[in-house]
Amino acid sequence: MAPTFSKDRSAAIPLHVIEQSRFDSWHKAQDERVRAWVEVNGFTGARGQVLLVPDADGRPLMALAGFANPGQRARRRFMLATAAEALPAAVYDIVSGLDGQELETEVFGWLMTQHRFDRYRAQQPGGATLVAPEGVDAVRIESLVAAECLIRDLIDTPAADMGPAELEAAATDLAGQFGASVDVVRGDDLLDQNFPLIHTVGRASTRAPRLIDITWGEAGPKVTLVGKGVCFDTGGLNLKPRAGMALMKKDMGGAATVLGLARLIMAKGLGVRLRVLIPAVENAVAGNAFRPGDILTSRKGLTVENNNTDAEGRLVLADALALASEEQPDLLVSMATLTGAARIAVGSDLAPFFTDHDDIAEALSRAGGGVADPVWRLPFHEPYELKIEPAHADLDNAPSSGFAGAITAALFLRRFAGPGRYVHFDIYGWNSANQPGRPKGGFGQGARALFEALPGLVDL
Ligand code: BES
Ligand code: MN
Ligand code: ZN
Repeated sequence: MAPTFSKDRSAAIPLHVIEQSRFDSWHKAQDERVRAWVEVNGFTGARGQVLLVPDADGRPLMALAGFANPGQRARRRFMLATAAEALPAAVYDIVSGLDGQELETEVFGWLMTQHRFDRYRAQQPGGATLVAPEGVDAVRIESLVAAECLIRDLIDTPAADMGPAELEAAATDLAGQFGASVDVVRGDDLLDQNFPLIHTVGRASTRAPRLIDITWGEAGPKVTLVGKGVCFDTGGLNLKPRAGMALMKKDMGGAATVLGLARLIMAKGLGVRLRVLIPAVENAVAGNAFRPGDILTSRKGLTVENNNTDAEGRLVLADALALASEEQPDLLVSMATLTGAARIAVGSDLAPFFTDHDDIAEALSRAGGGVADPVWRLPFHEPYELKIEPAHADLDNAPSSGFAGAITAALFLRRFAGPGRYVHFDIYGWNSANQPGRPKGGFGQGARALFEALPGLVDL
């Protein structure tokens, strides 16, 4: 269950969020008893500081949370989440110190501290809860929280319990919650219906590959989201080394993230015709596995020389993007844990994206900054097209130079997308260390930025 706001306003302890620079003026304005208590406890508004201030009967009169200074906040995503994790278990009501979008974002971070991945072991529930602050769109925040929890839980679930069939079940479950339709092409039907690359990548697994196709909404611009659903990536016959394989349950992070974004769009009831396409496969090893050197013919007709079976994401996405483009959507988005190179370029905190449209790039960057979902544009650098063209086929899925790996992967995808507006996210989908509101594990990247920017990206 995703955390929500507490409805228990009467029991809530008033919480003052105090930036360090404002501490003195706040402190001066308090009565003498409060001033003395705050002083003796050494509270100054510094990062991580929290303090309960008692009344004359020893009951909590108010709580304080240090909000540090803007420089420190710029270095950390959810400053208030640090306080939420430190405060004693109780209900709090933010009464001063925060407003506008910063308040919404910090409150989102707070609620996320209450989320636990508890599928395999009962977990201590998150302690400090919050009533919806004045002026905050509680429904919107709870929807953002529910979407993020969905993304994290899907990624965190190990591959044994999140194969193509279970990913299909998760997609079907989400669709059912919002009255969306689902169509799935499974196993050898992929060949009959011309999805050869999805079949090729997924055929060596005991768990049948499939293409999940969700549609929702009757009118409005067509928005199509394509998510990489590689439920486990061994690398195929060009097997990944041990360290590289360790986290590959997260290789369906793109699928998880587009499902989270779809949840946001459907919960909000946005006036779009939404389509979500997820090629769900396991990149496994068996006698019938596809091989290095095989030349494959894609749905679109372009031939691909497979020079590394570990470059499987772009193959399954190619057929899904081709299908998506057949109906010329107004906006086409792909999200994928596509390359190690993307992580090397920008690290795991930033979501790199590619688009040919400056207005999309600007809108995404602006939106991402506001909702604590930072994104960064990388170029579809035209001269690198030469790198993805081999001798005997139209395309090479794994250029040998090893240079510009995120860009060449994106250029490969672009051959199958369009001619309309297209944006591709190469996300990491994983948080490597415990951080406030973001425990180690799966996490959503780009979904909130896209959702926030969406009304400006299509005619809404
Ligand atoms: N799923 C991986 C990419 C990946 C690895 C994302 C680690 C995040 C963290 C993808 O299928 C892959 O293996 N890509 C190769 C492509 C190469 C063989 C051209 C890569 O990035 O090394
Ligand atoms: Mn791979
Ligand atoms: Zn992969």
